[in-house]
Parts: sequence; structure tokens; C-alpha cells
Amino acid sequence: MSKKEKKVFSDGSEIIENNRSLDDQLSIDLQDVDIYDGPVAIRINKLIKRFGNFTAIDNLSLIVKYGEIFGLLGPNGSGKTTTINIISGLSKPTSGQVIVLGNDITKDLHTVHASLGAVPQETALYEELSAWTNMSFHADLYGVVGSDRGKRITEMLNLVQLYERKDNPVSTFSGGMKRRLALARALLHDPQLLYLDEPTLGVDVQSRRAIWDYIINLKEKKGKTVLLTTNYLEEANALCDRIAIIDHGKLVVLPNTPAELKQRYGDIIMDIETTSSITSQLVMHIQNISGINSVTQTNNILKITMSGNDLSSTGNIISLINKESNIKRISQREPNLEEIFLSLTGTGLRD
Ligand SMILES: Nc1ncnc2c1ncn2[C@@H]1O[C@H](COP(=O)(O)OP(=O)(O)O)[C@@H](O)[C@H]1O
Ligand SMILES: [Mg+2]
Repeated sequence: MSKKEKKVFSDGSEIIENNRSLDDQLSIDLQDVDIYDGPVAIRINKLIKRFGNFTAIDNLSLIVKYGEIFGLLGPNGSGKTTTINIISGLSKPTSGQVIVLGNDITKDLHTVHASLGAVPQETALYEELSAWTNMSFHADLYGVVGSDRGKRITEMLNLVQLYERKDNPVSTFSGGMKRRLALARALLHDPQLLYLDEPTLGVDVQSRRAIWDYIINLKEKKGKTVLLTTNYLEEANALCDRIAIIDHGKLVVLPNTPAELKQRYGDIIMDIETTSSITSQLVMHIQNISGINSVTQTNNILKITMSGNDLSSTGNIISLINKESNIKRISQREPNLEEIFLSLTGTGLRD
């Protein structure tokens, strides 16, 4: 059914190439699939990380293409931060290989660091110091010196709209402001590559939008490559060229564009609340209509997943339901991460 070809790259890493349909790929092992031959920013190859007996990263392979925004999605505890920590050199792999901009992180960590900016999950700012002093410390650390220094700090603080607050201690900042400051700090030495671990966790909606704008700008105007992790599908959707979903340290969804993902899992979900439940025969009947991917009924609410470009059956569905019950409410929406995740693993996000 599938053809596998081993491919060895000049940097010594290897992948198994698959000539399989997406369905095939998803139904069997997802370990070493990523077909791409262009410039690569990060190549993770058969990465394993154990903490004692516990396997946090379980044979993970993926690539981040040069110049893309790549999103690593997954529920809490799925291994996102562990992955970021390993590729930042903060944690050592148990086995496997991580190559960042052509350098093996276990051998050339210093080379990698110079081209890397990171916004860790714990924002790790000095709370008692001002925004400016925090930036200044980081500039020292990364050798941003000379006449450029003050100019660069000013520029970055302006970028995240915190210049007016430069003299205030970070302890007076909101969660969103702290994340923005952490982003400005990560950008200070003009890294080629950025790691953002849950960049908008605990951030209010307005700040979230602002952070999204900065991240998109980094890619589009400055040509940066961004690897971010998130718990939010809408964030991945807004930002990422490609996303992968992991759970228990394994890929459960291959790296794909958000559009491909949503198409696969039904572009639109219709929730129809009825005054009484409908028969299982009618549920089956609706399920068989073309363009309908799945139908489930829970507590008088029908959840119908349908392909995005085919809403023509909606009228048909409504008149069918009206024969058995009355409709109280209809709403349409995109699937959320929970639903995509559920349809793949049979379990929900853990929190
Ligand atoms: N230093 C550590 N020692 C033991 N277990 C750890 C350590 N760091 C992470 N883990 C475990 O590894 C798993 C993945 O954690 P993490 O990468 O932080 O997940 P995520 O960032 O996706 O929420 C979790 O079960 C976590 O408890
Ligand atoms: Mg994490």
C-alpha cells in the first residue's frame, strides 16, 4: 500500500519518505513522515526524551521549513515545552537528532544560540526591574553593544508598544504586557529563528491579537522562521503555515496547513437543538447525505459535521428533522481543537 524510501541528508540526518495518501499516513505510524526537500530551519529526527521511566517525547520526527510559522499543538503535558527545551539546548535528548539551521544542537549549541530567540513558557523577566533594564540585561547577554544598543532597545520596545512604559517595573505589567516584553527581548539580537512557547497563554484577547500581528509581521516583513506551541486551534489557524498535533510526545496529526486539516475534519459543524430526540434511523439517513461527514446526537443536540464548500444539504436536513421533531436552535461553527483531537484519538483534551 505504501512505498517507503530512506533518505539521508548532507547534514547526516535522515527521514523515511512516504508516498502515501494522507488517510494512509494518518491511519498507521506517524513517526517519520515529512516529505520536503527545500531549505530546512529545524529538523527533528526520531527524538526520544525520557524522564526516568516516563517517555515524554516518543520518537518524534518533523521539520520546520525555513521562513514558515510552524505550530506545535497539543494538550497540556503532551510534550510541547520538552520539545522546545531540547531544541533550545536547555534539555538533552535521550536519543535522536535535532538539527537547527544546519547545526547539530548537541555539538554546536553556541552557534545555534546566536541565531535563536526564545520566549519560554515561564516568561522569566526580572519583575522588580524596569522594562528597559530587562532589555539591557539581555543585550549584554547576547553581545548587543555599542552605539546600536540603545537604538535597538528603543526600536523593539516601540514594536511591542511598551516604550512609554520603559521605566516602570515589570511587576506593574499585565500578563499581556509581559508576554510582549518577552517577545521584544527575544528579538533584541535579531535572531533568524524564534521559539515561542504558548505565546498568548493567560493573555487577554486584545493583547493576543497584538501579539499575533507582531508574529505575522516577523515572518512577512523580516523573513523570520517561527516555531510556536499552543493549546489554541484558533491561534494556530491565525498564525501558522503548517501545524502538527502531538499527544503523549507523538504526532497524532501530520504537519499540515490549517486549511487541509479543517477540510479533513469537516470545515463546518452545525449544532441543531431539537425539542425531542430524533430516531437513529433518521440520524443514519442524515449521515448518508452527500457532504455530511458525521452526525451525533447528545441530549437533543445533533452535531453535524459537513464539508465546508457544500452547504447545499442544509435545507434538506432541516426538513428531515422537522418530520420527527421541532428545531429550537441552529448554529454553525468551525471545529475546535477538542473536536479534531477527539476524532483522532477518541479522548478529549485533558483540561
Ligand atoms: N523535568 C521533568 N521531569 C519529569 N517529568 C517531566 C519533566 N518535564 C516535563 N515532564 C513531563 O513530561 C510531559 C510533557 O511535559 P511538557 O513538555 O511540559 O508538556 P506541554 O508543554 O505540552 O504541556 C508531562 O507529563 C510532564 O509532566
Ligand atoms: Mg508547555
